Amino acid sequence: MSEAPLLRLENLSKRFGGLKAVSDVSLSFGEGEIVGLIGSNGAGKTTLVNLVTGHLKPTAGRVTFAGRDVTGAPPYRLARLGLLRTFQVVQPFAQLPARDNVAAAALFAGAAGDMAAARRAADAALERLGIAHVADRLPTQVTLAERKRLELAKSLAAKPKMLFLDEVNAGLNSAEIDGVLDMIRSIAAEGVTIVVIEHLMKVVRGLCTRLVVLHQGALLADGPTDAVARDPKVVDAYLGKRGAAMLEAAR
Ligand SMILES: Nc1ncnc2c1ncn2[C@@H]1O[C@H](COP(=O)(O)OP(=O)(O)OP(=O)(O)O)[C@@H](O)[C@H]1O
Ligand SMILES: [Mg+2]
Repeated sequence: MSEAPLLRLENLSKRFGGLKAVSDVSLSFGEGEIVGLIGSNGAGKTTLVNLVTGHLKPTAGRVTFAGRDVTGAPPYRLARLGLLRTFQVVQPFAQLPARDNVAAAALFAGAAGDMAAARRAADAALERLGIAHVADRLPTQVTLAERKRLELAKSLAAKPKMLFLDEVNAGLNSAEIDGVLDMIRSIAAEGVTIVVIEHLMKVVRGLCTRLVVLHQGALLADGPTDAVARDPKVVDAYLGKRGAAMLEAAR
């Protein structure tokens, strides 16, 4: 990478008591990349995202975003710089309609100056994600697929430069997943760097040109999707022969 990376992690670690959930991970991400972050249950994927987006403080290491040291910075500050994430377990404000959930995200990230502007940004994001019809509904009154899109709308209204998507396809059917993939591609096409945390090989293969594999908290592999999918270390530790074949078949 000749230009300075958008996000750089240096020797990032997180301990929970005796458990090294993330162990000495160094990685760089460039502008407009779509990267898959994969690994078994408990490999440390969500913890890594939490460290980078300010939801957990690292035990050691450094995070640099757009040239600034943001290690340990709170989520609202990172959101204002354009570093956003969705949650594996979606967490909307249950008492607010969808539009205001998205508007709140825009205000939190400083992407709108007042509530009227935030609601306009919210309507635009809901429209873009094909869920304008849920604007006045409470999050409990929408389907899982719509709730996942609502999460994406919140990120989009916050004007991201970089977006971590933590299993946004989990629980969706094949047609719903295809719809989400199109949206992710269209967001990336605007230059937003996207990291998708995924267990679904169809998604990984369909979206990502680069894969990062975590295993027991440590970086196991990082490279072009094809090469990583064939890496014997990755096949042994995570994909298995069946997973590798699925990744191959999903081309
Ligand atoms: N707040 C916490 N306190 C203690 N241990 C934690 C905490 N959060 C995560 N862990 C542990 O850290 C390890 C990594 O968890 P993490 O949630 O990051 O994995 P993951 O790769 O996202 O897994 P999954 O694919 O199941 O979502 C696991 O052993 C988990 O039990
Ligand atoms: Mg997780």
